[in-house]
Amino acid sequence: MNKINSVILLSGNGSNFKNILDKIKNGYINMNITAVISNNKNAYGLERAKKENIETFILNNKINDELDSILKKMNIDLIILAGYMKILPPKIVNKFYGKILNIHPSLLPKYKGIDTHKRVVENNESFHGATVHFVTNDLDDGPLIIQGKIKIEKDDTADTLKKKVHEIEYSIYPLAIKWYADGLLEQCDHHFLFNGAKIESPIQDISKS
Ligand code: GRF
Repeated sequence: MNKINSVILLSGNGSNFKNILDKIKNGYINMNITAVISNNKNAYGLERAKKENIETFILNNKINDELDSILKKMNIDLIILAGYMKILPPKIVNKFYGKILNIHPSLLPKYKGIDTHKRVVENNESFHGATVHFVTNDLDDGPLIIQGKIKIEKDDTADTLKKKVHEIEYSIYPLAIKWYADGLLEQCDHHFLFNGAKIESPIQDISKS
């Protein structure tokens, strides 16, 4: 099967990007990363990309126009949001509909938006986790693909949960991307399919729970 071409969009540390790259290198994911694009010139994820000789782009002013023109010059099958802290405009979401994945640090549809770990602790939740979903024009609200869940312990804080949730992310994001790269995840008309069947509810990853 031909390798798909992807771009990574990030705004910060890029540990998910690094983890995805490691999983490409060890043969788990069959995919190329064509470029890493960031709206933050100081994002450590850009340094990680440069070390690996992956082309990088920094979005400066009219970031959505700049992003659009960068993407136009590439032949991209998949856009991977990995801690990208900007909202993609409808123009780009519509153009790449069904070809954009995001990972969100909560059990969506609960806790959309930012500061998820802090809010989960404040609300005395029993469970927390991460979700991979397709990106649509509704923020953190596209069809859910896979979730990983953990039980919150009494002594957990926003910081400890952040670490635990990252561990979940390092397992579910590469898995979803692998599925996409292998043609198991796709969009058909208004439906999102896994292995040919409509995704009704997210697959539960129980490996870390
Ligand atoms: C992750 O927690 C992800 O869920 C969220 O942004 C964070 C990015 O972390 N969208 P990193 O930059 O990959 O370490």
